[in-house]
Amino acid sequence: MLTPVILAGGIGMRLWPLSRRHYPKQFLPLAGETSLLQQTLARLEGLATASPVVVAHQDHRFLVAEQLRQQDFEDATLLLEPEGRDTAPAIAVAALAASAQGDDPVLLVLPSDHLIDDRMAFQASVGRAMALAERGWLVTFGVTPTHAETGYGYLQRGAPVGDEGGYRVRRFVEKPDRETAQTYLDSGEFLWNSGMFVFRASRYLAALEQRQPAMLGACRRAFAGAYADLDFLRLDAEAFAACPANSIDYAVMETTDDAAMVTLEAGWSDVGSWSALWEHQAHDAHGNVLRGDVIVEDSHNNLVHADSRLVTMLGVDDLVIVETSDALLITRRDRVQAVKQIVAQLQAAG
Ligand code: GDD
Ligand code: MG
Repeated sequence: MLTPVILAGGIGMRLWPLSRRHYPKQFLPLAGETSLLQQTLARLEGLATASPVVVAHQDHRFLVAEQLRQQDFEDATLLLEPEGRDTAPAIAVAALAASAQGDDPVLLVLPSDHLIDDRMAFQASVGRAMALAERGWLVTFGVTPTHAETGYGYLQRGAPVGDEGGYRVRRFVEKPDRETAQTYLDSGEFLWNSGMFVFRASRYLAALEQRQPAMLGACRRAFAGAYADLDFLRLDAEAFAACPANSIDYAVMETTDDAAMVTLEAGWSDVGSWSALWEHQAHDAHGNVLRGDVIVEDSHNNLVHADSRLVTMLGVDDLVIVETSDALLITRRDRVQAVKQIVAQLQAAG
């Protein structure tokens, strides 16, 4: 049996002004009727899993609880972080919570902000990953890259392992620069790390013990001091505040010799930026993706989102325009990674 661990504590800065601190992207219906978190839960249907452990920021607890309830996942364990410490500690406390409920469970770690078109293909890859994880591997999912993306980790495929079409990961490189990413793409040996993982709780905790003992110690103290509040489990704030922040990719995956991968061909995408959202959604005959009250004339390959007003465009190409009642973003599709610099300016201004 697999225990899903859903990471729902990110801030989704690059999707400002729709994604906000109090309402980050994973809780928004950015592509479809339900939120990205709810689509993540729906993707589990048909897989034999234990009830999930969801790790989120305490400020979003009622939002998460309501979205879980709508999907009939009331039995999930909802672990609350007083502040984000990135993914390595979030997965550690989830591993401790899942281990308290069962005997060294296999964890299926899922970010809450991905789109996957083909649920059955996803579940088939999870099955293959589980077989490897049961034998001790830390398993990743490799996606065939289409461009030299700098926002993803890269997996270098090694020798085959097991009978399920898995491979050793020879090298894991988190977010290389553009030049390096291009050499990886050209080599044909690298795949994108999808950011989902499958491993035994004990294997992940042992990997942290070896590399990040201070982090694991802080997570153990935060979990030991956790207390129930309504339907939530709140981590001990002081202990968790003392935890170093780092992602699983840097803290474990880049340095372990025990990483394996299975391939994932399921129409995967990380909805990390406005251009990713434009790429993933259906375009009109002129390559535009239009949401809300929008009129366009002689304009191509734009993404326009209108929340509260009519938005019109004439004779412009390759733009992103996101209009909400209190903020307007206008940028080029090839500049969307830098939206976080706007958010940083806003934060600095208080
Ligand atoms: N609970 C919790 N706490 N969740 C968090 C935290 C935290 O402090 N920080 C991030 N998350 C959640 C996010 O909400 C998201 O669902 C997931 O963890 C991954 O975090 P991102 O911040 O979106 O990571 P990334 O996209 O930059 O990089 C990762 O994913 C890529 C693919 O999407 C890496 O694993 C890359 O290697 C990978 O290619
Ligand atoms: Mg992401």
